[in-house]
Amino acid sequence: MFKGKLLSLSTLFIALISSVQSAIHYNQGGSDWTGTCATGKSQSPVDIPVDNISGSSINSKYFRSNKLLDIMVSQKSMSNITLQDNIYTYQYSFSDGYLAFWDENDSLQTFQLLQFHVHAPSEHTFNGQYYDVEVHFVHKHTTENRLVAFSVLFDTKAGGDKENEFIKSMSVGAQNQSVISTLPAMNLFKKLDMNQLYHYEGSLTTPPCNEIVSWIIVHDPQQISSAQVKAFNDKWKNNQTFAAGKGNNRGIQNLNQRLIYKKDDPRASNGVNLIASILPLFVLLFGFF
Ligand SMILES: *[C@@H]1O[C@H](CO)[C@@H](O)[C@H](O)[C@H]1NC(C)=O
Ligand SMILES: *[C@@H]1O[C@H](CO)[C@@H](O)[C@H](O)[C@H]1NC(C)=O
Ligand SMILES: *[C@@H]1O[C@H](CO)[C@@H](O)[C@H](O)[C@H]1NC(C)=O
Ligand SMILES: *[C@@H]1O[C@H](CO)[C@@H](O)[C@H](O)[C@H]1NC(C)=O
Ligand SMILES: *[C@@H]1O[C@H](CO)[C@@H](O)[C@H](O)[C@H]1NC(C)=O
Repeated sequence: MFKGKLLSLSTLFIALISSVQSAIHYNQGGSDWTGTCATGKSQSPVDIPVDNISGSSINSKYFRSNKLLDIMVSQKSMSNITLQDNIYTYQYSFSDGYLAFWDENDSLQTFQLLQFHVHAPSEHTFNGQYYDVEVHFVHKHTTENRLVAFSVLFDTKAGGDKENEFIKSMSVGAQNQSVISTLPAMNLFKKLDMNQLYHYEGSLTTPPCNEIVSWIIVHDPQQISSAQVKAFNDKWKNNQTFAAGKGNNRGIQNLNQRLIYKKDDPRASNGVNLIASILPLFVLLFGFF
């Protein structure tokens, strides 16, 4: 019963996310998109003031650190996945992944993975700085009509100019609908410094730009080789036919009084280990980790 409801909600969300794909274009970085994209006040992406000390980001004054913020990402082995070339992104649908999110108000929410997809260059900026690639793991709330987008960054300078095994396994440039045997997502997640966690409430970064997305960003740029970045850029950023040589990233949106939270580093604040305390919950809910 519960599962049936969950599945139909997920189907609805997949429909919502895929319905306008053909109409998505980046000729003006999204500034000509209409509807909520144009009128919304809680849009994404935004600039994240990672270096608050200098106050160099325009969003510095809305930056708060928080002890309660935490997440846990759990992923079944990603196998037999289809690469879908949506022209404006590569998308991989997969639903055997879960994410537990402890927000800044100490409220625990659980989400199920729907799909992940790629933007190059990054959509979010960090003190105004772009990274080479940003991958969004889009998760659906297990009971409500809300999404979490879990964002992982890749950069040849900040992360190192070395081949990334996760990116490699994505088979970029392979034929549309190619089946990928395995994607080592957990290997990628285990490498991330989950203390570098940022959260704010925003929107889908593609039309219809619904304001239903809790953004969770790990500011820990991962290694990627120049050749791997080039494979994405050949398709979007350096492709005159795609959007006159622009990437598939929406322009930065106004924060409009929203707060951006950063997880307090427990090594500095002596905070409790929430991850350890929700492990049993994960086993109970999803039967694995
Ligand atoms: C960031 O800087 C702003 C302005 O200087 C300040 O109001 C805010 O408290 C700072 N946030 C953190 C987390 O240090
Ligand atoms: C792989 O996925 C396809 C399409 O989703 C399905 O028909 C097939 O049975 C799957 N194969 C395995 C080995 O799971
Ligand atoms: C890839 O396949 C999907 C599903 O058949 C289709 O919607 C999409 O347009 C295809 N992409 C390209 C680049 O042909
Ligand atoms: C946390 O509580 C504050 C104050 O009630 C509210 O504005 C904010 O939206 C809450 N955050 C989340 C993620 O619900
Ligand atoms: C450049 O973009 C066009 C339009 O999206 C696409 O058909 C073409 O395959 C792209 N070129 C490369 C090298 O990916």
